[in-house]
Amino acid sequence: MADDTTDTKSSNQMWGGRFASGPDAIMEEINASIGFDKKLFAQDIRGSIAHATMLAHQGIITTDDKDKIVHGLNTILSEIESGNFEFSRQLEDIHMNVEARLATLIGPAAGRLHTARSRNDQVALDFRLWVKEELQKTERMLTGLIAAFLDRAEEHAESVMPGFTHLQTAQPVTFGHHCMAYVEMFGRDRSRVRHAIEHLDESPIGAAALAGTGYPIDRHMTAKALGFREPTRNSIDTVSDRDFAIEFLSIAAIAGMHLSRLAEEIVIWSTPQFGFVRLSDAFSTGSSIMPQKKNPDAAELVRAKTGRINGSLVALLTIMKGLPLAYSKDMQEDKEQVFDAAESLELAIAAMTGMVRDMTINTARMKAAAGSGYSTATDLADWLVREAGLPFRDAHHVTGRAVALAESKGCDLAELPLSDLQAIHPDITDKVYDVLTVEASVASRKSFGGTAPSEVRKQIAFWRARN
Ligand code: ARG
Repeated sequence: MADDTTDTKSSNQMWGGRFASGPDAIMEEINASIGFDKKLFAQDIRGSIAHATMLAHQGIITTDDKDKIVHGLNTILSEIESGNFEFSRQLEDIHMNVEARLATLIGPAAGRLHTARSRNDQVALDFRLWVKEELQKTERMLTGLIAAFLDRAEEHAESVMPGFTHLQTAQPVTFGHHCMAYVEMFGRDRSRVRHAIEHLDESPIGAAALAGTGYPIDRHMTAKALGFREPTRNSIDTVSDRDFAIEFLSIAAIAGMHLSRLAEEIVIWSTPQFGFVRLSDAFSTGSSIMPQKKNPDAAELVRAKTGRINGSLVALLTIMKGLPLAYSKDMQEDKEQVFDAAESLELAIAAMTGMVRDMTINTARMKAAAGSGYSTATDLADWLVREAGLPFRDAHHVTGRAVALAESKGCDLAELPLSDLQAIHPDITDKVYDVLTVEASVASRKSFGGTAPSEVRKQIAFWRARN
């Protein structure tokens, strides 16, 4: 509950003309959005300045009134920025808080600002501007995360680690290649962000309540002044559309899912059992009872933030799904979801960028693990196809017998004596040992997008140029 509740029963000064009394206290509480939409103050003021300037340009208000309005709005902007503005819950939202203050500052001219617009197109504008800026910020942050991965990939283009499927050792890969998998994921997130900016780059202001307006406004002028590509084309859709917010949340949910998978890997890799990475002190915590512990809390919280983001996406989809056109007050509930998800996403990307840059990679441990679990079995099968002319299915079978033998002897494939291998298939020669090492295994996988260090370096160069 906001702390500015006063029990006045006078009708609202912005829309109270046909109301005899003010709202019930509960009505005021459920109706007010100022507690969260005050975040939109800068966008609201920018939008109003552009609107007033256009109204004067079109001769709808006088230049004198426009000057007063712009001056007053700039005063309000600095009042809010410096913390010298008193927000009132009775005035419901940011739009009416700003306009009421403008009336106090400049008098009757303030009443002309709301000509040819409605809070419906006003809020659509403010929120779009906010989401656009947030998307631009997300784009920059993802670029930072991608850069962190590119640096680690370059450093570890040759470091061998086990590649997994089903979290069972599958085939050796390089850590650089694994890092580049995340570059692909976050690169896709970044291009989704760029597309979303293009989608939302249309100006809602001038759609008015839902039907447009009879005043001779110039929507192209306001669109340009506010940095939009063009005005929206349908006034009904304009005030009832929140796709831009839902797109932001979908992108955040997908990026969050990627961040969470990475978080999960970091949690696993940093256990003493795996020991692939060591987190820096800056991104881990200790235990109050177990002195030996170093916990990957930041990674765990990134994993958990994803849950919040998913919740926000589902909440807004659910808020919107039953609404008839055009605006309904339900839509006021859009902002908190987006603000909360944006905060979570920013934190998660920042924490991950720090962790990725700071963590120490235990290459010896990774390499040892890469060689265990018969990870070069596929290489043996491929050798039998290539050098002994076996069909792949037969080679698979022969290799399976070699793995079973090694398992029964408790050794690696490379440790089986040649006589053992030849007993399984007479065409095996001692040349086979060349492909049974993890280095030879990764170096051989030169197919486009494969794990060979030469391929990984090509992909790093591609992404560095792509930006
Ligand atoms: N605070 C409202 C919102 O966030 C502004 C729009 C109100 N429009 C209206 N017709 N009551 O959605």
